[in-house]
Amino acid sequence: MTRILHRRIEPALPVAVSGEGVFIRDSNGKDYLDASGGASVSCLGHRHPVILTAMRRQMDELEYAHTAFFTNDAAEALADDLVAHAPPGIGHVYLVSGGSEAIETALKLARQYFVEKGEPQRTQFVSRKQSFHGNTLGALSLAGNPRRRDAFEPMLFRSHLIDPCYAYRHQLDDEPDEAYGARAAQALEGKLIELGPETVIAFVAETVVGATAGAVTAAPGYFRAIREICDRYGVLLILDEVMSGMGRTGSLHACEQEGVVPDLLTAAKGLGGGYQPIGAVLMVDKIYDAFLDGSGSFRHGHTYIGHPIGCAAALAVQKVIREEHLLDNVVEQGERLRRQLTQRCSGGGNIGDIRGRGLFQAIEIVADRSTKKPFPVEARMAQRIHQAAMDRGLCVYPGSGTADGQVGDHILIAPPFIVEGGNIEAIVERLGDAIEVALDCNKAGPILAEQ
Ligand SMILES: Cc1ncc(COP(=O)(O)O)c(C=O)c1O
Repeated sequence: MTRILHRRIEPALPVAVSGEGVFIRDSNGKDYLDASGGASVSCLGHRHPVILTAMRRQMDELEYAHTAFFTNDAAEALADDLVAHAPPGIGHVYLVSGGSEAIETALKLARQYFVEKGEPQRTQFVSRKQSFHGNTLGALSLAGNPRRRDAFEPMLFRSHLIDPCYAYRHQLDDEPDEAYGARAAQALEGKLIELGPETVIAFVAETVVGATAGAVTAAPGYFRAIREICDRYGVLLILDEVMSGMGRTGSLHACEQEGVVPDLLTAAKGLGGGYQPIGAVLMVDKIYDAFLDGSGSFRHGHTYIGHPIGCAAALAVQKVIREEHLLDNVVEQGERLRRQLTQRCSGGGNIGDIRGRGLFQAIEIVADRSTKKPFPVEARMAQRIHQAAMDRGLCVYPGSGTADGQVGDHILIAPPFIVEGGNIEAIVERLGDAIEVALDCNKAGPILAEQ
């Protein structure tokens, strides 16, 4: 009996009672290897003593002070730290309580920026198919994820969707990587010209696509071409690194590996590592300066922004990552994970693609590897694999709609940055078994590949 409206009403969920390192224990004493950090959240694993101490210390000093009346040391220290390690040109941050709030904030910052600058005719956003930016109405309006949008479609504003840069499905057979990157970026220019570039506020994209398509990295040169197109038309570039940022791909910000600096950069999940709900929007100086030289105030705010305990936790998380050189481990274990996944899984006729960067890897599952044909929605293949993995004491993050927003399945693997070689072996073994079991169940059942 539960009084909570859970994400799914059935089946009942296990009860998480404790955590330690990369493991979560349920109320039956079963341990789960947390191979996705929830949804790419728990970058330091569970119950890290340094973070708990930092939170306790902050609780003993100040638990909350409204940001309309006060600033606080924890928030100022976190902002200083984020700016000190940000890409060049980023000088300020806006602190929020999660990923969707970060995106809502970025959209409103971008819009008010143009109002401050005397370009109020800029009202439109461009985003990408197979994307996810959060479940609040503004963030959902950007999403190229019909299954998450369907019920709410009449309430969403219109964002103009272009194709993602998704080599596995969109790169032509004989097309070099760079040529594909340039072609995919050209879709943005085409869309801007169609809309009238002077009416567009910003282009919004996940630097590495997470929940909807599964660790899809852009082709070489794609984001540099995107940056140039945005600059050519005076359109802002918003990169959503809620899932892929804060070290997950092996550099603090995923955009560092693309050689671009966005105008607005969102962060959340790995920022606080799950110790507190927190997010941030990092902004380049021209955005801050437009507010400074203009109205002097951003018409926005939430009750819990800059929350002292959230900020203290996030600062402690970021310091531990640096002091323990954990990004080196992200790169090393990420390569090990990819190697072992390839060895264990790539022989099967249903493994379409294994991809990703750092400790942000995914497997795309298909009904037929030679044609890349996905399983039908009703097969619920990603969910089946997820359940089979949970049965084996492994948490991975399932996603569907991978191929075109509607059909397609992937499994995202995003373990904590403290993961060790033995953990990687266990992840790959259990996941390999779970995939085989889910595929066997599908063969036994009446569900066939989509025609
Ligand atoms: C890229 C991206 N942006 C935004 C969000 C929304 O974050 P939250 O669930 O913290 O609101 C998510 C959540 O998965 C995400 O993956």
